[in-house]
Amino acid sequence: MTSLSTSAPGVRQTGFRFRCIACANLSDDASQNFRCANCGDLLEITYPHWKETAPAALELKSTWRQRRLSLSTIDLSGVWRFRDLLPALESDAQAITLREGNTPLYELPQCSRITGVPRLLAKHQGMNPTGSFKDAGMTVAATFARRAGFRWVACASTGNTSASMAAYAARGGLRSLVLVPEGKISWSKLSQALDYGAVTCQLRTDFDGCLRLLQELVLRAPVYQLNSINPFRLEGQKTLAFELLEQLDWQPPDHIIVPGGNLGNSSAIGKALLEMHALGLISRLPKLSVIQAEGANALVRTLREAAGKRLISVHAETRATAIRIGNPASWKKAAHVLEATEGACEQVTEVEIAQAKAEIGAEGIGCEPASAVTLAGLKKLLKQGFVKREESVVLVLTGNLLKDPDYTIDFHRGDLFKGTSNESASEALNPLRRPPVVLDAALDAVIRTLEQAEKV
Ligand code: F0G
Repeated sequence: MTSLSTSAPGVRQTGFRFRCIACANLSDDASQNFRCANCGDLLEITYPHWKETAPAALELKSTWRQRRLSLSTIDLSGVWRFRDLLPALESDAQAITLREGNTPLYELPQCSRITGVPRLLAKHQGMNPTGSFKDAGMTVAATFARRAGFRWVACASTGNTSASMAAYAARGGLRSLVLVPEGKISWSKLSQALDYGAVTCQLRTDFDGCLRLLQELVLRAPVYQLNSINPFRLEGQKTLAFELLEQLDWQPPDHIIVPGGNLGNSSAIGKALLEMHALGLISRLPKLSVIQAEGANALVRTLREAAGKRLISVHAETRATAIRIGNPASWKKAAHVLEATEGACEQVTEVEIAQAKAEIGAEGIGCEPASAVTLAGLKKLLKQGFVKREESVVLVLTGNLLKDPDYTIDFHRGDLFKGTSNESASEALNPLRRPPVVLDAALDAVIRTLEQAEKV
């Protein structure tokens, strides 16, 4: 530990300040745990001089469009391309980038038919370099970690944050420490962290326990925290919304639907929408809705049972392990953006998640289970009349299909709900299953299989 125990370098900032989300106290330094020195609540990044200095909306749109033709490294990043609305760097070369962002916006014709919503699109953040939306935030936060002089970065994770952090640390010449709940993250995500060279600790606790421990660690050792408590992460994740609106030619959709776990991503998208609105990049706000798994529904309960005033934590349990979080750190930020955009918060069951995931897979796109809560949630919001069929809807798919192959294989083999209370309810999903068949290597056997499949 001796090499770690040098005093923690400070973040020197340009053009932005840290603001406490509760008491609005402004500061130039974020402490190691990104909490307000006055009241202990979370910090966010604010740009006090935008009113005087931000370029006009038309100029921003044109600059961002021109950068798409550029071959410079910084412009090839779908995050740094929007750097005018991010914390400033002294030089482009400071950015640690893997060409993140630039993710596709897909039509979903089959899901449109299923839901009866003709204007249904998916912004697929799983098409990022490490396969999840985390890369958009990580490029910014890792860059500022290195710029501040840290040697070590660390995170608690359900898997995707750790994969992303390990990759960006490796690219930036930083060491990384990963804390993950033992047995509760997919092998595919764990394997990424190992391959990218992270020091990986599988702790005998859940995600919330890992995060608690990390909070203590950063006060004792000069490791830079890269969870979404880190406001630089959220600045990077804002660009998802900038890029989405650019892809829609700045015509806001009626609804954006996003999964909710630790609630950093919904907070970041909401911040981006509010900033775009304030800067005149969009003329009206889409409604931003958050969907959680029924077994990890802290925000749903917080809004319903405590009117968003205090967090109701839960003991989280869901097969969508990415969002198996019971004590979400950014709940206040998320509650604020839901209110500001007039969005909804809903929960969906394990069977609904499995069905939606298979339906997104059948589009030839696929996603990980946590991302599929968006489609399952849309069906609920339609039933409630909150979303109307004639409205336009964008689902944010947060992770790649390949992130959790065990879930997909268990589903198609019919093992996902075996021995659970959902076993009989899940039988309704049998028509969506495509189990592999083991055959002798004989032509007749394959032709028979083909003929049987033709009948279905
Ligand atoms: N979808 C995926 C695929 C995720 O990995 C996560 C979070 C979420 C949705 C929820 O996003 O936390 O910003 O509300 N994964 C974290 C991790 C917690 O450690 O990888 P959120």
